[in-house]
Amino acid sequence: MQDLNKLWKIFNEKFTDTGLVKGAFSAPGRVNLIGEHTDYNEGFVLPIAIGKKIIMLGQLRSDRLVQVFDFGYKVEAKFSLSNLSPSKKDIWTNYLMGVMDEMQKAGYPLQGVNLIFISNIPKGAGLSSSAALEVVTALTMAKLNLLEIKPVEMALLCRRAENNFVGVSCGIMDQYVSCLGQKNYTLFIDCRSNDYELIPFKDPNYQVLICNSKIKRGLVNSEYNRRREECKIATEFFKHKLNREIRALRDITIDEYKKYQAQLPEIISRRARHVISENYRVQAGVQALRMRNYSTFGQLMIESHHSLKNDYEISCAELDLLVDLSLKQKGVLGVRMTGAGFGGCTVNLLRREHIDAFEKTIKQGYKKITGIIPDIYVTPPAEGAKVIKLR
Ligand code: GLA
Repeated sequence: MQDLNKLWKIFNEKFTDTGLVKGAFSAPGRVNLIGEHTDYNEGFVLPIAIGKKIIMLGQLRSDRLVQVFDFGYKVEAKFSLSNLSPSKKDIWTNYLMGVMDEMQKAGYPLQGVNLIFISNIPKGAGLSSSAALEVVTALTMAKLNLLEIKPVEMALLCRRAENNFVGVSCGIMDQYVSCLGQKNYTLFIDCRSNDYELIPFKDPNYQVLICNSKIKRGLVNSEYNRRREECKIATEFFKHKLNREIRALRDITIDEYKKYQAQLPEIISRRARHVISENYRVQAGVQALRMRNYSTFGQLMIESHHSLKNDYEISCAELDLLVDLSLKQKGVLGVRMTGAGFGGCTVNLLRREHIDAFEKTIKQGYKKITGIIPDIYVTPPAEGAKVIKLR
């Protein structure tokens, strides 16, 4: 990643100094350890923020104009805060405009800004580069405009930007952990109440590794929305069967599921089984981490993958291959696909002394079958969005 001084140099060459407030900010991508497709079912998730992030430099302007330069892709855009509407041409600007739009709708007065940003989060890999862009934009706008916005409110605002402006009906997980993640902790989120708890995740013996299949998540939008619909159908079914308030699949116990599952259409039944059992796995996983029982946690990750593959049907051949290869390696406690699915990454938990052998064998094995060399990132839990101190 470019060093900050170089980036400021480019910033100063590109934009005339307005003499107003300046600052540098960052927001990370994320990897979810367990709890997949549970957030929009008001369930539980357990992600970590990762070391890969977006850095944004900004300076306030005295008018309502926003000028932004994406340093990585060498593209720029200009728009006015008084006239924000989704762009069909420069899709990437929608993440920024969406956040600014939601901030203004929430009553925050904004002035224009000059911005440069740079990212090392791979795009389309399921590591939430879009959430990071939303969050870093929100933080930059808040700080430059001297606004106090709490991290949870910021996360919710960014999610609304993605839902309403970008047009993706994601849940809360990605924006939440990008705002609130902390070094050496996983973030246990209750996606109904939006309460969260930091669960320690630091042990000299174990490490989290991400394997990027380099398969871009093709089908993801339409299939994601379809899964959401299927979950709604299952929820409606249980609402009619059970004599109490049911708001989401989060409210169904495994016993209730077992009692009625035969009455559900087969596909809907499997979708529901994934969500209901995954919520249990997240809670069991949190208990295991509290006891520092990493082997149980790893086992739950493996079960989660099977459920995503067979019941939720959002894996793909390359992700399954990465999982199979990983399970054959020494020192691997758990592995699963992570994120929305249909490509992207696996997340692996393994004993630290086996990392080198793991990387070598996975790369060879995956390349042999797919012709692709996967990227592998070692990622202990990193910190969430923050202000970068100016020297
Ligand atoms: C995407 C969404 C999240 C979540 C995951 C699946 O990353 O943005 O809200 O639903 O998929 O767990």
